[in-house]
Amino acid sequence: MSGSALYETFARAPLAFEKGEGAWLVTERGERYLDFAAGIAVNSLGHGHPHLVAALTEQAAKLWHVSNLYEIPGQRRLGERLVDATFADKVFFTNSGAEALECAIKTARRYHYVNGQPERYRIITFEGAFHGRTLATIAAGGQQKYLEGYGPKVEGFDQVPFDDLRAAEKAITAETAAILLEPVQGEGGIRDFPMQSLKRLRQLCDERGLLLIFDEVQCGIGRTGKLFAHEWAGVEPDLMAIAKGIGGGFPMGACLATDEAAKGMTAGVHGTTFGGNPLAMAVGNAVLDVVLEPGFLDEVNRKALLFKQGLAAVADEYPQVIEGIRGTGLMLGLKCTMPNGKVNMALRDQHLLAVPAGDNVIRLLPPLTVTDAEIQDALARIRAAAKGLAEAASAAAE
Ligand SMILES: Cc1ncc(COP(=O)(O)O)c(C=O)c1O
Repeated sequence: MSGSALYETFARAPLAFEKGEGAWLVTERGERYLDFAAGIAVNSLGHGHPHLVAALTEQAAKLWHVSNLYEIPGQRRLGERLVDATFADKVFFTNSGAEALECAIKTARRYHYVNGQPERYRIITFEGAFHGRTLATIAAGGQQKYLEGYGPKVEGFDQVPFDDLRAAEKAITAETAAILLEPVQGEGGIRDFPMQSLKRLRQLCDERGLLLIFDEVQCGIGRTGKLFAHEWAGVEPDLMAIAKGIGGGFPMGACLATDEAAKGMTAGVHGTTFGGNPLAMAVGNAVLDVVLEPGFLDEVNRKALLFKQGLAAVADEYPQVIEGIRGTGLMLGLKCTMPNGKVNMALRDQHLLAVPAGDNVIRLLPPLTVTDAEIQDALARIRAAAKGLAEAASAAAE
């Protein structure tokens, strides 16, 4: 028996934080860490943002939960605001990203079902994808390491290589319902789908009567410098899953849909007890108050450029450690030359928190409210970590 009452499913760092202040986390012993992990792109406005704290505490004093048996005014308001800001006409609120994806998958299947084509239930996905940890979303993600040991893989997902449009087209059959992808893969290693590919996939879906589903759980809510990453390509999906940043740290997600795509989602066909609860809606609305403020996203883009240029300079200086920089906005990746776990440790030793990803990448996902001074501070820590690793590597080679 291990010493903990918890499932051993997480390889946790030996750090426990007591409080957060903006882009900083403070341990029980008072040590300060610069948080460029942001709870894996969740703390979009940093820790303890006064507007979010006020919204949550105000709502907490009034009403926590009633269930979807009743009207929830905050839900209606957030739904309308998301519709006004996007391609969507309809919204279903969930508690997590995986549930938002489940809703998107079910919505796509129901669409074809009510169109009289129940045989169209299969969904094409791309290698490197990550869509969550439910049985359906591990099947959608298609990664063997997450599927192993969980019995038969949920039927209905066909995976093709990343950005291989020819393979995607070939994979379409009379049973295909939709194509699902993250415009920027997060867990897969900060990999952008080229804009031309998104455009072509939209075209392909239109030609073949398929729904296009975007998973913006990680790349949405201002992370790439647009409210949603797909806006860079000028392409709109039929369905979109969001979560993480919209709650700023309060667990919530949503599935957004056009009227047409959502036409099969009629009374009683889907549900949730907690999804869209008043606490989550208060926070979601407060996050949008800030992110939709004029000029907020311009600032994200300005700071992103500053950060990316600084990172490129570090990569130039230490090619033995960092091979290159990728990503858009404040969703950046260090493609590592040495194992990314080692680089992540060295960053942590410098009290900078980041997140390892696939393809030997380290994700840098600071709060969107990060300051210029904090970016410079992070760059100094990344440079110091890279210098230490480079010197250790040359000493070992001698
Ligand atoms: C792109 C993407 N989709 C879905 C999920 C699943 O979200 P959750 O962990 O909230 O279920 C994640 C989580 O990392 C994600 O990055």
